[in-house]
Amino acid sequence: MTTPTKGGQGVTRLPFPAIWLRDNCPCPACRDRLSGQKLFQITDLPAGLAVESVEETDDTVTVSFSPDGHRSAFPREWLSAQLGDAPGDGRTEQDKQLWRAADVADVLPVTQWVAYRGNDAERLRVLREVPRLGFAIVRDAPRAERTVLEVARTFGYVRETNYGELFDVRVELAPSNLAFTGLAIGPHTDNPYRDPVPTIQLLHCLSNAVAGGESGLVDGFQAAAILRAEDPRAFETLTSTLVAFAWSDARASLRAERPLIETDPYGRVRGVRFNNRSMQAIRLPEDALVAFYDSYRAFAEVIGRSELRLTFRLEPGDCVIFDNTRVLHARTAFVDMGGGARHLQGCYADLDGLMSTIAVLAGTP
Ligand code: FE2
Repeated sequence: MTTPTKGGQGVTRLPFPAIWLRDNCPCPACRDRLSGQKLFQITDLPAGLAVESVEETDDTVTVSFSPDGHRSAFPREWLSAQLGDAPGDGRTEQDKQLWRAADVADVLPVTQWVAYRGNDAERLRVLREVPRLGFAIVRDAPRAERTVLEVARTFGYVRETNYGELFDVRVELAPSNLAFTGLAIGPHTDNPYRDPVPTIQLLHCLSNAVAGGESGLVDGFQAAAILRAEDPRAFETLTSTLVAFAWSDARASLRAERPLIETDPYGRVRGVRFNNRSMQAIRLPEDALVAFYDSYRAFAEVIGRSELRLTFRLEPGDCVIFDNTRVLHARTAFVDMGGGARHLQGCYADLDGLMSTIAVLAGTP
């Protein structure tokens, strides 16, 4: 960190601009002692800030600024930690372990409810699988209604929606959604018509005494990565075309427009929305529509590949927790004459709460 500059006059040059150093000043005039929150606006700092001098000890680097003479004492360890590439935010493909079915089928991220509930280390281990693989399964939870809410509250907060705190997935006589029939449902993400979209979904099995009704999960980030490798132009089209999703009934009218594949400002995949049931007509020039449909179809073809789809059976008491911005879920067809032989309860929650719980359990808040 000590690079002599200023024509050899012995002034240490730190590898940070003066404005950056000053903006991060930890002194009690700049940061609230209790909360650690910043006490000034960027516009409160003098224009033309420069580093006037730097004094170093083994553990502290003290910077004096001109024109106002302010002094900032930085722990050397903290300054060193700011060098190098910024870590990812945990949400992009950079921080994930992408998978195909065969990669996870024999090593499913599974826990038992009693161990999960009673042991922080076990809870931490399992919750870490959600950002890493995109899902985790809690087995042998109580087979009682509303248990799904209890599972969500082990790591975060239930996101209540117009569907209520939770929703039932079972055959209904007058279904408002294909989910409430025995039809097969292809891989999809839920509620793409919300902004923000629910980032976590939970599905808890109360009964599953039917032939069929197997659950499927697909790693949407893996599918997007495959599309990018095989058909870069399709990937580019899907990241740059806004698609409208909508859902309405007598009491709600929801609509959101997003690309099917969302990337962050550095081009890394950060979210996937895929739901043919709620996708609306796209308004674009004819050429752009042709390009979009070629790309959409190519992505759907990748998502539909059997080697990507992890298939498993939810047994009563099982609860799957998954990242709804990444992992698509599906089910095979089943026959239930409306007697509730297959009954799941689902709810939504959010990744920020789960990541917070992980950080607290890991002791790195
Ligand atoms: Fe769904």
